[in-house]
Amino acid sequence: MEDGSITQSPAPPNAERIRVSNIVKLFGDNEKTALRRLKEGAGKSEILSETGAVLGLDNVSFSVNEGEILVVMGLSGSGKSTMLRCLNRLVEPTAGSIRIDGTEVTELSTKALREFRRKTFGMVFQHFALFPNRTIAENVEYGLEIQGVDRKARRERALEAVELVGLKGWDAKFPRQLSGGMQQRAGLARALCADADILLMDEAFSALDPLIRRDMQNELRSLQKKLRKTIVFVSHDLDEAIHLGGRIVLMKDGAIAQSGTAEEILLDPQGEYVRRFVENIDVSSVVTLGRLVSPQPRLFEGASAEEAWPLLEARPGRADDVFVVTCERDTPVGRIARDRLASPGARGQRLERLMEGSIARAPAGAVLKSVLPLLANEPHGLAVVDDAGRFVGLLTRETALRALAGKQANEERNMAWTGSSPTMEASASSLLTTSPAMPSIGSPSISHH
Ligand SMILES: Nc1ncnc2c1ncn2[C@@H]1O[C@H](COP(=O)(O)OP(=O)(O)O)[C@@H](O)[C@H]1O
Ligand SMILES: [Mg+2]
Repeated sequence: MEDGSITQSPAPPNAERIRVSNIVKLFGDNEKTALRRLKEGAGKSEILSETGAVLGLDNVSFSVNEGEILVVMGLSGSGKSTMLRCLNRLVEPTAGSIRIDGTEVTELSTKALREFRRKTFGMVFQHFALFPNRTIAENVEYGLEIQGVDRKARRERALEAVELVGLKGWDAKFPRQLSGGMQQRAGLARALCADADILLMDEAFSALDPLIRRDMQNELRSLQKKLRKTIVFVSHDLDEAIHLGGRIVLMKDGAIAQSGTAEEILLDPQGEYVRRFVENIDVSSVVTLGRLVSPQPRLFEGASAEEAWPLLEARPGRADDVFVVTCERDTPVGRIARDRLASPGARGQRLERLMEGSIARAPAGAVLKSVLPLLANEPHGLAVVDDAGRFVGLLTRETALRALAGKQANEERNMAWTGSSPTMEASASSLLTTSPAMPSIGSPSISHH
């Protein structure tokens, strides 16, 4: 970071940066008594009436990885800001541990804490808090200025940050000359300009108009990809949390009601509070095809029909079930129905000769909604493929409809969405394949080499 650039040198992927363990925050004079009562099992209202202390955070634990956006979400008063502020001890936690890059933040001395804050955190708030009498560039470089970075170097970094957030050419203007959205960009540039590579953002976009807000969300996502900042983003808005695309910690009354990806929470909301939160969200605009498809063995085009027969027996189904045929690079090349594949007449024939037509492809990362028009024209379903174009599974209309109706049976959910079912023993054929990412279930897992 001392190379004069605000882009990050690559860190090992998914390295854990922040680990929050059992954080409790009690506001009030009787913290000790209140903490004891909490440990004895007393609830928020009991603690309040007995000790006068407000339970702000109740045993909160989560972790954030390098380059991740974690969204802390919940209704107003659920403890989001308190949690965010505990990370840099703007709020002192009553109990629990916060480790950031291996440093126990709760144990830092006042002096060490000041230094640690400066080099670790950038903060962006709902209200931009720009200095009105400083230009945008002067605002952005403020952090470097108080660190004593020389004028030329800090201006260079500031202009780089200003450009990154799309404000190129506005650096000499004053905040009042910019719209609200642009001022928030400047606030973001200020946070990006400092050395800090963990951004704490508290309702940073909540004061913006919806369209500008969406722009800022998109921008943050792309900046985050480029800069690999680690971001903890507080929002009361599930739509925003989903759009930012990271994991979500959903808070209720100072405790975590549920945490996970947006897909996990939408597909399996735990408890009434979470269900009410998600009920108005359109699942089809969140759930991705890779999560929906049932794992399905692929049939290599060079295999013969009788090589596929054991596979059919292991996967009982309907006569018109469609299987996807792949070429040697695992790319879907066509489809074949069970009854045709199983017919005695198929014996001795290679699958490429038995194929009944092509199959449309769709990327695993696409959301269901984006492929519904395509699916409407494809009665046999869509062959879902990974980034490299390899077959992952078949998306049938039936699966899509069930997801839209929100009526997945538990069994199916476990199978298709968590991939937690046991993988069967590998069997003999060298020509039939299954996806390594999506193990075949209820059928032999066979790889070809
Ligand atoms: N300084 C404080 N003193 C007493 N109670 C507080 C203080 N700060 C926050 N709280 C309480 O802690 C709870 C969580 O507040 P907060 O973290 O601001 O929620 P959110 O950001 O989710 O709206 C609320 O009940 C609030 O009243
Ligand atoms: Mg708040």
